[in-house]
Formats: sequence, structure tokens, C-alpha cells
Amino acid sequence: MKTVLSGIQPSGKLTLGNYIGAIRNFVKLQNDYKCNFMVVDLHAITVPQDPAMLREQSESVAAFYIAAGIDPNLANVYMQSHVPQHAELGWLLTTLTAMGELERMTQFKDKSEGKESVGAGLFVYPSLMAADILIYNADLVPVGEDQKQHLELTRDLAGRFNHRYGNYFTIPDPYIPKVGARIMSLDDASKKMSKSNPNPGSSISLLDTPDVIRKKISRATTDSGKEVRYDPATKPEVSNLMSIYSECSGLSLTEIQDQYDGQMYGGFKKELAEVLVGTLEPIQQRYYEIRESGEIHDILAKGAADARETASKVLADVKERMGFLPAFKS
Ligand code: TYM
Repeated sequence: MKTVLSGIQPSGKLTLGNYIGAIRNFVKLQNDYKCNFMVVDLHAITVPQDPAMLREQSESVAAFYIAAGIDPNLANVYMQSHVPQHAELGWLLTTLTAMGELERMTQFKDKSEGKESVGAGLFVYPSLMAADILIYNADLVPVGEDQKQHLELTRDLAGRFNHRYGNYFTIPDPYIPKVGARIMSLDDASKKMSKSNPNPGSSISLLDTPDVIRKKISRATTDSGKEVRYDPATKPEVSNLMSIYSECSGLSLTEIQDQYDGQMYGGFKKELAEVLVGTLEPIQQRYYEIRESGEIHDILAKGAADARETASKVLADVKERMGFLPAFKS
């Protein structure tokens, strides 16, 4: 069985972008692959985190995975920090990574722009991400469009290791959905919807109540003109809302266009809000049940134990190939 790996940072409230671009695809893949879905807490601390918030958000992301439909009997769900082999392989791969490669990463450029002091962790973030993937020899990595460049670096690092130390790592393929890989901000369709955007109106949080969802959609920016038409070049805001509608309703963009032919934005937005409420309400209900039951701790323990088994074997092989002495028994 081929292997899938992906992860989400517990660095803020999950958004509709995370759901459509990533989590929904995790659920789809779990029946056909050996799946590992992490909460990447080691990545989250590359920018300052409040310890209590980090704990809360870590558990929240894990519970959301399960609420969204990931079955812990089919997939490993665990904290990245509970599998220490990630960090160790991360260091080994950092030594194979060139500064220039890291400097070119757009996520690094975006996150460090205008900052007086930038943490070294943020800079080497992509080497740790490569380790997350390669430590399981993952075949497929479901992510949104924004992670494509990190995936390319991972493929380069795997190839470099194989060239230097003999063929070992699988070269992973990204799994990026054709539609929904880049859900944009509700207040500005030139920016991606992001959990780190300080304006709450810019995104739908996966835990927003129905009333908040309705309010945010009614206030979402629209383009000039009136017609509901999919044309990202001239109508980026409405096209983004139409993509969200399509992803959550299963209707094609043409079907949506036909449905709202001759109508104005108001009715379209009202119905979009109801589509979103209908998508998120059942997940939220399960989410609160899972949080209350405390079952997530057992799920995380089991997922990490299984992941550690594979990860420790791969790390031992990698270290042997690189020329490390094995640990001697006294
Ligand atoms: P993160 O936490 O920023 O985002 C998690 C996932 O959600 C996707 N995503 C989006 N998709 C569509 N539209 C959006 N607006 C949107 N916003 C976020 C992201 O593409 C991602 O798939 N570096 C990763 C976490 C990571 C990882 C890994 C992923 C660490 N190690 C190994 C895959 C494999 C990140 O910051 O994701």
C-alpha cells in the first residue's frame, strides 16, 4: 500500500481554506493509502506562540481531523513532536540544503517581510517539512497550492540524498486539487485565506457559528457589476465565492452561474451562507463531542506509536548511509 503524509500547523483557528484545500482530501485518500496526518507543532513554533494557546490549538486541530471524517483506525493522527525522528531527520536534511534554496521560498519571504528579527527556525522550516515527508518514504502529499514550492524542495533533497548516499528515498508527488487549492480572503481576493490574517472577517473559521458565517458572507467584498459570473481575471471576488460555493455544494461553476442568471449578489450570498452552514454544522457537532469525550488523547497516542515504528527504521537506515556510528550497547 502506498503512503500519504500531510500536516497542518496549530498556529491559529483552522479556516475554510484548510478544509477545502487539505482536510477534505485527507478524508478521500484514507481508504486507498497508508495515511499519516500530523499536527505540526514543531513548525508552529517557528513564529512566537503562547504555550497555553499552542496546547489548545494542537488538540483542536487533531479533534478537527476526526470530526471532518478521518478514521483513526485507517489513518495515523498524531503530534509531530511526539515522533522525535522528524526533528532529527530535519537536522540531517538541513545539512544538505543550500541557503539559496531556503532564501527563495516564498513562504519565508512573506513571513519574514518587514520583520526586524527573523528566527532561524523560520528559515530552515522547509528542511523539517521535507523530513516529515521523507521519514515515511511518502508517495503522495495532499496540500493546497501554497505548499507546492516546499514540495519541490523536498523532491530535490530526496534526489540529492539518493545521489550522494545511494537510492533510498521515494520522490514524493504533491496532490493538489484542481479546484479549491487556493481559497482567497473574503476581504481581498488577491490574498489567500489564512489563519494568521488578523482580520477575522477575512476568513471563515471552521468553528464559526451559523450567524457569524452569515454575517461574514454578507460582508464579503464583491466586484463592481452585478452578475454572478465566474471570471477570476475581471471578477476575482465573486469568482472566489463561486469556487467556495461549488466546493461545498458539489454544483459545477456553470450550474451555479445558470442558477443565478439575472439575479444580483444578495441572493447568491444568502444561499452561499446556507451552503456553508450546512457543510460545517455537522462537523462542528462532532468536533464538540470529540473534545468533550477526551478520546483524542488515545487517538494521538496510538497514531504516534505507529508512526514512530516506521520513522525509527527509516532514520536508522539514513544515519547508517550517511556514516554515523551505530549506538553501542555498554
Ligand atoms: P498550513 O498549516 O499553513 O496549512 C495546512 C494546509 O491547508 C492548505 N491551505 C489552503 N488550501 C487552499 N486555500 C487556502 N486558502 C489555504 N490555506 C491553507 C495548505 O496548503 C496546507 O495543505 N507547511 C505546511 C504544514 C506542513 C506540511 C508538512 C504539509 C508541515 N509539514 C508535510 C504537508 C507535508 C503548512 O504550513 O500548512
